Amino acid sequence: MSALTELCQRISGCSACGLARQRKRVVPGEGAENAKIVFIGEAPGQQEDIQGRPFVGPAGQFLDELLVSAGLRRSEVYICNVIKCRPPQNRDPLPSEIQACESWLNLQLELVKPRMVVTLGRYSMAKYFPQQSISKIHGRVKRQDGILYFPMYHPAAALHQQSLRQVVEQDMLKIPRLLAEIDGVEEEQQEIKPQQLTLF
Ligand code: URA
Repeated sequence: MSALTELCQRISGCSACGLARQRKRVVPGEGAENAKIVFIGEAPGQQEDIQGRPFVGPAGQFLDELLVSAGLRRSEVYICNVIKCRPPQNRDPLPSEIQACESWLNLQLELVKPRMVVTLGRYSMAKYFPQQSISKIHGRVKRQDGILYFPMYHPAAALHQQSLRQVVEQDMLKIPRLLAEIDGVEEEQQEIKPQQLTLF
């Protein structure tokens, strides 16, 4: 069993906050273990709580469409949430719940080691862009320690607010170029190796 599968099993048994009493299923996350890109949402909704999988309800259908538009297959990315259990009536996550779940998310990221992190909505954005406003920074990349952080509106926000739909679609279309940038860096690094070898 891979370390990530083992971690997700541990997450599934978590009872670190009160949400453990109300959930049907824990939603640890899913996708490619070595994904270059990780999408982080907010919290499971009703469908996710039933199925134990992230983004399988209406917001997930829209996310699937967005991924296709960017030439990405769901199986090649990793998708998870800031908190792994559904809050009652889909209320906003509490700071204490986010804190209780934080180490799970950190461990997931340590194992997947993505080159790009896409935050979907305010809660995952706050982890990497504290005190920032999503209306100001969505679609603008931050490069830090070799990782690209890319904040987007949550797909559900675009479903509720028609004017955001195009914004979300356009932001998603910026991702292929950013991934190409990462590939370019990797190629450059590979190219350097033979030169280094001839030096010694
Ligand atoms: N919204 C999220 O933030 N995450 C999900 O998994 C589903 C809906």
